[in-house]
Amino acid sequence: MRNRDRDMSNDPYSNNRALWDDWAAAHLDTSFYREFVAKLESGVDALLPLEKQELGDLAGLRVLHLQCHVGTDTLSLVRRGATVTGVDFSSVAIERARGLAQRLDIPADFVLAEIADLPEDFEGAFDLVFASYGVVNWLRDLDVWARAIHSCLRPGGRFYVVDGHPLAFCVADRCDLEGGRLTLEFPYLRTQEPVRFPLSGSYANPDSDSRHTSDEWPHGLAEIVMAVVDAGMQLEFVREHALGYAPILDGMVRGDDGHWRWPGGMDGKFPLVFSLSARRPNAPPSLARALGS
Ligand SMILES: C[S@@+](CC[C@H](N)C(=O)[O-])C[C@H]1O[C@@H](n2cnc3c(N)ncnc32)[C@H](O)[C@@H]1O
Repeated sequence: MRNRDRDMSNDPYSNNRALWDDWAAAHLDTSFYREFVAKLESGVDALLPLEKQELGDLAGLRVLHLQCHVGTDTLSLVRRGATVTGVDFSSVAIERARGLAQRLDIPADFVLAEIADLPEDFEGAFDLVFASYGVVNWLRDLDVWARAIHSCLRPGGRFYVVDGHPLAFCVADRCDLEGGRLTLEFPYLRTQEPVRFPLSGSYANPDSDSRHTSDEWPHGLAEIVMAVVDAGMQLEFVREHALGYAPILDGMVRGDDGHWRWPGGMDGKFPLVFSLSARRPNAPPSLARALGS
């Protein structure tokens, strides 16, 4: 689905926003997202087992969901007992998310914003910041991202992200998965300029005749971890998992648990996603007293 090309004729974020507006307009009608919506309609949530287990109990938490897209995960977090605000920079995604929440009668706030420019009243307002699947590759500067997350958390609040593993970003579209071979084609370490991919259709809608280019930034695992640490958060865990959330390559296999895996002899040998949990430290006791908390 993607080939490397380095034509930087447009501003990357404007280019990406146009792509996401177009994809968001179609995504709730795709079988990929209809499955999540059907779960929400039937009264349960649509999170995958990995994040359900790692997130734990969400009852009563104030949650900020960054890059919420059309809101299916946002509404799932509400179903798990949280009060949730979803943020996305695509106006179409936010409009579709609000429509879905209204139709399913699940209360959630949706805010149109870029991560580098979040509303001031988000400062210290959340117990948990959550982001999932297909997020860091769209961001130019992870230090900006991590500082924004830190500032939205209350002292002691938690950040949790589960996303495509940076290794999976590098894998060529045409791999001999049956033969157990991975071919690496795209960079692992951050590049100054984004990598531009010509795309036909989307991960949820591969047969669509929509044509776009995406501008994406590779970020290695150490870069992701150190952005979180340098922003002042304390790591709880970083994990690599040999299971995924979408069929990123032909030949991948879906399990009964809803996760996608490498086929046959490759299963369990390479990561597909990583997850990370970190906390904004509590204020020192003297400061907490001064703040009256
Ligand atoms: C792959 S989707 C997230 C998918 C989500 N986990 C789901 O399954 O619906 C990525 C989202 O990030 C948003 N996005 C990309 N760059 C952004 C930015 N700088 N600020 C806010 N949102 C951004 C896009 O509009 C898109 O909706």
